Amino acid sequence: MHRLLITGHKGMLGRELVSQAKKLGHEVIGLDLPECDLADRRNAEHAILEAEPDLILHAAAFAQVDRCETESDLAFRVNATGTQNVCLAAQALNAPLLYVSTDYVFDGTKNEPYDEWDAGSPVSVYGKSKYAGECFVRDLCAKHFIVRTSWLCGHGGANFVETILKLASERDELKVVNDQHGSPTFVNDLAPELVRLLASGAFGTYHITNQGSTTWFDFARKIVELSGSKTRVTPCTTEEFPRPATRPKNSRLSPRLYTNAIGNKMPAWQDGLQKYLSERYGHDMSCPSPVIPTRQNLEYPIVVY
Ligand SMILES: NC(=O)c1ccc[n+]([C@@H]2O[C@H](COP(=O)([O-])OP(=O)(O)OC[C@H]3O[C@@H](n4cnc5c(N)ncnc54)[C@H](OP(=O)(O)O)[C@@H]3O)[C@@H](O)[C@H]2O)c1
Repeated sequence: MHRLLITGHKGMLGRELVSQAKKLGHEVIGLDLPECDLADRRNAEHAILEAEPDLILHAAAFAQVDRCETESDLAFRVNATGTQNVCLAAQALNAPLLYVSTDYVFDGTKNEPYDEWDAGSPVSVYGKSKYAGECFVRDLCAKHFIVRTSWLCGHGGANFVETILKLASERDELKVVNDQHGSPTFVNDLAPELVRLLASGAFGTYHITNQGSTTWFDFARKIVELSGSKTRVTPCTTEEFPRPATRPKNSRLSPRLYTNAIGNKMPAWQDGLQKYLSERYGHDMSCPSPVIPTRQNLEYPIVVY
């Protein structure tokens, strides 16, 4: 059993991390806004040193990709300096740290899935600020894990599944981008893996996503099909859907080193989606539960008609 500190514990991934860590018998401490601003050095240091964790899972971030373009000072303050502050405290405690990173550290021009050893090449402010966070983790923490993941979906969070379900309940047709490739990842599959990895001692940089890849269009089509909606989903290109932040066209992440280190137990993304929808509809897909309002509807590559 460990004393595990989880930053961003009120967020979509953070909530699932708390629940999984508790299930595994760990003692859990959470840090998040507004009680603790990790970008404030004294605030972060005081809170982390006082909590005295023996493991730290750093999931807090400014993760709204388009907002990061217009609020770049905040993005670097939270994702880079906030991570630096967490690293300094982890190092002072000699506590292993796991930093949750993203496919957006790559530019998406590689023709194959990105390997764990590929050099970062971020093109958006969000990607650059998360990559700067990775650099602090590598430079400051001897015992670290960096886990890049992608396209996160979790209950109660602003995620693509909820966005599509909401739009499908309002519209006859949705156009969704079909030239960005990646792996949807469900937080209830990811969270236990992160906790398992953190306790393993196999430090390093890893890629963990649900297995298999798709496009936003195919993902949307599957969500609509499984929910029983009659809304028509049609494909479009990224050029037809300009957004403030440039997204990588190839977000696929190869988990080779993670598989070698501890074994890849992640289910296929289709299984993750099926489970998510079953839980959401209480196992009765014909009786939809109320749609959860999403904060970031327009963060996703969807055109609404
Ligand atoms: N969502 C994705 O598709 C995705 C994909 C790949 C990687 N990731 C990474 O996965 C992690 C979790 O993402 P998520 O989608 O669960 O994000 P989320 O729901 O936005 O959760 C992040 C949490 O961090 C908190 N936070 C923000 N600034 C903070 C600060 N200065 N001090 C303390 N806490 C702060 C947020 O509080 P507020 O809500 O009050 O701001 C929120 O509770 C992040 O590191 C993200 O970069 C996400």
